[in-house]
Formats: sequence, structure tokens, C-alpha cells
Amino acid sequence: MNWSFENKVALVTGAALGMGLATAQAFAEAGAAVVLADVREEAVKEEAQKLAAAGHKANRDPLRRERRRAGGADVSRTVSEFGQLDAVFNNAGVMARIAPTGDSSREDWDRVIGINLRGVWSCMKYELRQMQRQGSGAIVNNASVGALTGNPGIASYIASKHGVVGLTRTAALEYIKHGIRANAVNPGLIDTQVARDVVNGNEEAYDEIAKHVPIGRAGRPDEIASAVLWLCSSGASYVVGHALTVDGGMTVV
Ligand SMILES: NC(=O)c1ccc[n+]([C@@H]2O[C@H](COP(=O)([O-])OP(=O)(O)OC[C@H]3O[C@@H](n4cnc5c(N)ncnc54)[C@H](O)[C@@H]3O)[C@@H](O)[C@H]2O)c1
Repeated sequence: MNWSFENKVALVTGAALGMGLATAQAFAEAGAAVVLADVREEAVKEEAQKLAAAGHKANRDPLRRERRRAGGADVSRTVSEFGQLDAVFNNAGVMARIAPTGDSSREDWDRVIGINLRGVWSCMKYELRQMQRQGSGAIVNNASVGALTGNPGIASYIASKHGVVGLTRTAALEYIKHGIRANAVNPGLIDTQVARDVVNGNEEAYDEIAKHVPIGRAGRPDEIASAVLWLCSSGASYVVGHALTVDGGMTVV
């Protein structure tokens, strides 16, 4: 199987931390030129600079937060700096404030749906146009095991992730004839800031949840990165519109 991304260009959103950062690093180590995008301007700039200092190809400066709102800005930045766009991980996402649906606020609904679902749609819109011009490309969206079941207290998050999978499947059917493969990943409990925020920094509660995953621990961000790279690689050339669950067995029981 060919895992090399030499002469390929990858874009990763939410790349300052967690799974996004691990995936940007993995693309860079596999030879791709990588554009790291995030609302945390300073942190993402530092990570891109670290990759460049280690001899990898990474974007010189992150887009400013306000320009990122333009939607296509990350794509045009990628193409103007590196000439093409071959692989994308639409990963940026946030957790909902915990409340039963009847008590949840419109503001929180709009924030979560706006970043997790509309954000992915608005990135895909421009990524698909660029890839259609090229006649090739692979897109992976970060959904969640929350796309497979309900989960009390976080309706907007669950709805957003179900939406991401529906969006992925639809775009996959629309664009496969243009040589573009769209897929998703459904991570289970992965040890990142978002996961720890759910238990408000309560380490004991976190360990208890992790212990109940069949594999006996939370996942590492690089374990998601490796699924994303595979889905973007020629090794997954026949995988279209799939949501790949990577959860240590969490949803098997
Ligand atoms: N950690 C888990 O257990 C878990 C499980 C399933 C799915 N997910 C999903 O994985 C994705 C990544 O989460 P993570 O756990 O790595 O979290 P994380 O907090 O470590 O990283 C998320 C990154 O996204 C960035 N971000 C937030 N809003 C953004 C926006 N509008 N534009 C650009 N960047 C933005 C943040 O600044 C941060 O750097 C999210 O979509 C999350 O819903 C997480």
C-alpha cells in the first residue's frame, strides 16, 4: 500500500490541537505540504512553524480569524501557496453546553451547529470546487460516534454529527464521478481537550469513562490521524461515502 503523500497538498482545520494537529503532523511526515487552519491563531502558527523547522512543508502564516469566516479563504490560501489541494481533514468542532433539550439555548444550538455542521459544509463547498477543477481529491470529515446514537444532554452536538455524516454521504455520491472521494471518521473517546471539557477537568470521572471502553483506555489523536491518512490514500481508492468508526470497541457492545 502506498502511504506516501509526496507532492500532495493537505489542508487540516482545527489543527492547533488534538486530532487536527496529530493529522497535520502525520500528513507532513508522510511528505505532504500542509496548511494548518484554526481560530487559535498564535497556537496554530507555532505548530506550522515547528513543522517547517523540522524540514516539512507547512503554511507560512495562519489565516487571520476574521478572514477564515469567508469560507473559501483556507482553500484559496492553500492553492495560492502550494498550487493544488489533494487531501482535506475537516476536523474543527466544539462540544455543546450540557443541558436537556428543553433547557438548551438557541445561542448554544447556533454555535454548535454553526461550527460543527455549517462549518464543514462551508469548507466542503470550496474544497469540492477546487478538487473538481483538478479532477481528483479526498475529503475526510470528522464526525463522531455521536453520529450513531443519541446522547442525553448534548442534542446540538449529536444533531451536528449526524448531519456531518449525511452531508458526507451526499457529497460522496455527487462528486465521485469527478474523482473526489468523501468519507468521514467517527472517533470514540479520544484524549483531547474537548473530551476533558465534558467532565470539567474531573480526572476521576474521565478515567472511569475511559475504563469502560472495551479496549480499556481512551484513544490517542494519532490513532485517528492514521485512519484519516488511510482514507485519503490510494489504499482506500474504493472507499466512498463511508463513516469509519475508530472507537476501541465502544459502539460494539
Ligand atoms: N475528543 C473526542 O473524544 C472526540 C470524539 C469524537 C469526535 N470528536 C470531534 O473531533 C474534532 C476535533 O476535536 P478534538 O477532540 O481534537 O478537540 P480539540 O479541542 O483538541 O481541538 C479542536 C480544535 O478545533 C479548533 N476550532 C474550534 N472551532 C474552530 C473553528 N470555527 N474554526 C477553526 N478551528 C476551530 C480549536 O481551536 C481546536 O484547536 C471535533 O470535531 C470533535 O467534535 C472528538
